[in-house]
Amino acid sequence: MDKILVHGGHKLNGTVRISGSKNSALPILAATLLTREKCVIRGVPDLSDIHYMLTILSHLGCDVERASGVASIKAETIRTEAPYDLVRKMRASVCVLGPLLGREHEANVSLPGGCVIGDRPIDLHLRGFEALGAAVRVQGGNVRLFAPTLRGNSVNMRGTHGTTVLGTDNVMMAAVLAPGVTEIHDAAEEPEVVDLANFLIAMGAKIEGAGTRHIVIEGVKELHGTDYTVIPDRIEAGTMLVAGAIAGERLTVSRVRADHLGAVIEPLRAAGFHLETQDSTITISPNGSIKPLHLETSPYPGFPTDMQAQMCALLVRAPGVSVITDHVFPQRFMHVAELSRMGAQIKLQHPTAIITGNGHLSGAPVMASDLRASAALLLAGLAAEGVTEINRVYHIDRGYEQIDEKLNAVGAKIERVKA
Ligand code: EPU
Repeated sequence: MDKILVHGGHKLNGTVRISGSKNSALPILAATLLTREKCVIRGVPDLSDIHYMLTILSHLGCDVERASGVASIKAETIRTEAPYDLVRKMRASVCVLGPLLGREHEANVSLPGGCVIGDRPIDLHLRGFEALGAAVRVQGGNVRLFAPTLRGNSVNMRGTHGTTVLGTDNVMMAAVLAPGVTEIHDAAEEPEVVDLANFLIAMGAKIEGAGTRHIVIEGVKELHGTDYTVIPDRIEAGTMLVAGAIAGERLTVSRVRADHLGAVIEPLRAAGFHLETQDSTITISPNGSIKPLHLETSPYPGFPTDMQAQMCALLVRAPGVSVITDHVFPQRFMHVAELSRMGAQIKLQHPTAIITGNGHLSGAPVMASDLRASAALLLAGLAAEGVTEINRVYHIDRGYEQIDEKLNAVGAKIERVKA
C-alpha cells in the first residue's frame, strides 16, 4: 500500500490543469447502459472509482474500451445483475439501477454499505423508482427492481438532509425511456446533474429544467449513441484553490468553470485571498493575513460538503475562531482528529467544527479515512513544518487524478512511497 510524504513549506507557483469531473463521469458512464449504440465519453479522469464503474459495466455485458481520458462503451446486450464483490467498492455503483430499470425493466444489484462519511441510505432513489411503477424488494443485501411497465409520474426527491444528487440522476435515467411525463420536484441542482441531463439529451432524451429544482422528462422510445465531453471537476478545482490559499504565491487553475465555483470563490475572498477569474481559469494569491469564517454546507448552489474538509485545513491557520457546519453529511468530520494530531485546535459538536486558528501546523503520521478528508490532510501538510506522512492513500486516488504530480509541478514536494 502506498503512502504519501508531504514535505511542508514549499511555495506553489504556476498553473494546474483540472481533470474531468469524477461525479459527472460516474453517472454518465452508467447512462451508456440506456442504448445499444456506442457512446464515446471524453474527459474521463483516470481514477480508481472510474475503474470500478467500468468494471461493473463490463460485468453487465458492455464492450468497454479505454484510452487516455476517453471511454468508449457499447451496451448491445446487457444483463441486469451486479454482485456485492463489484458493487461494495464504490457507493456510486447504485447509479446503474436507474438505467437498468429504464432499459430492461429490472435490476438486481447488491446494496453498497454505508461509509465513513455517513449512513448513506438510498430510500429516496427507491421511492422514485416506485413512483415510476417499479416493485422494489430489498433482500439478502440486494435491491431488486421489477416493472412490467414503467410510466412517467411525479416524484419528490427531498429527504431529511435535503435533496439527493445520485437519487435525482437515477430517477432521471429511469424516466427517459418511460412513456408519459415525469416531473422531479426538489431535484438536485448540481452541475453534475445538468451534465448528465445534457448527455441524455445528446442521446435523444427530452429533458427540461435540469439545474433547477423542477425537472420535466418526456419519455422517448429509444436513445442513440453519442460523443460527449464531461465538465471539469469543480471539487478538484476547489481543492487546488485551497492549496493555493494554504501554500501559494500565485496559483492558477485552468480548464475550470468559474460559474460552478461561486460557493468556493466567495468564502476564499472573504478569508482575505485575491481571486481573479477569466474564461476558463481562476488565479488565487494571498492578500494579507487569513480571516476566520463561518461556513455551512448545503446542496448546490450552496457551499459544497465535498469542500468542507479542505476548508477546515485552511481555517486551522486563520487566527481567530472559525465555525463549519455540515448539514449534508453531519458525520463527515473524520479529518478533525487527524488535523488535531498536526496541531490544529478543533472542537467537534456534530454537525459543527469549531476551529481556533493558531497558524501553526507540524507534520505527523496521519491516516486518510475518505477521499476529501485525505485531501485535507495533504493540504495541511503543504503548510506544516516538517513531513506529513499520509497512510491509506488509496482514498485520495479514488477522486484526484495524479494530485501529487500536479502539485509537484507547481513547486510542492510530495513523495509517494511503498509502505
Ligand atoms: N440521502 C438520503 N436518502 C437517499 C439519498 C441520500 O437520506 O436516498 C441523504 C444522504 O445520506 C445525505 C444527503 O441525503 O445526507 C445527500 O446525499 P446525496 O444523495 O446527495 O449524495 P450522493 O448523491 O450519494 C453525491 C456525490 C458525493 C457528494 C454528495 C453531496 C457522487 C458520486 N457523489 O453523493 O461526493 O458528497 O453527492 O453533494 O456524485 C465525493 O465526491 O467525495 C462525494 C462523497
